[in-house]
Amino acid sequence: MRVLVIHGPNLNLLGEREPGVYGTQTLAQIDELIERTASSLGIEVRIQQHNDEGGIVDAIHAARKDCGAIVINPGAYGHYSYAIADAIAAVAIRAIEVHLSNVYSREAFRRESVVAPVCAGSIAGFGPLSYVLALHAAAAR
Ligand code: DQA
Repeated sequence: MRVLVIHGPNLNLLGEREPGVYGTQTLAQIDELIERTASSLGIEVRIQQHNDEGGIVDAIHAARKDCGAIVINPGAYGHYSYAIADAIAAVAIRAIEVHLSNVYSREAFRRESVVAPVCAGSIAGFGPLSYVLALHAAAAR
C-alpha cells in the first residue's frame, strides 16, 4: 500500500517559519520521520510539497492511479479551498487531514475546514507527531 503525503503552502519554510507555533523541525526532518514511520508500518510513501493549489489538485488526481490513501496538510487552503475538497471527493481515496498546530486554539478562521467533510478524519495539534498518527490511521485499513 502506498500513501501520498501532501504538504501544502508555506510548509517548505518549517524550521524558520513561526517556530513558536510550528516548532523548529525542518520539512526535511519531518519527511525523514514520515519515511521512518512508513517503513515501520510496512507501507510506502510518496511525499510532495506544493505552494500552489493547482499542484495539490494535480497530485490528488495522480494518486488515484497508484495510492491507497492520502495524508494531507493543506495549510491555509484547508480553510477555504473548495477545489482541493472537490479533488479529494472526486478521487474517492481515503484521506486524512493533518495540521501541526492546534488550529482550534488559534484565530477563528482556522477553526473552519472545508476539507474535513471529505476526509476520513482530522489530526491537529501534535506537531510532527500529527503526521505519524495520520500514517497509522492510513495503514490501519
Ligand atoms: C497548518 C495550520 C494552517 O492554519 C496554516 O495556514 C498552515 C499550517 C498547520 O499545520 O498547523 O499553513 O496547516
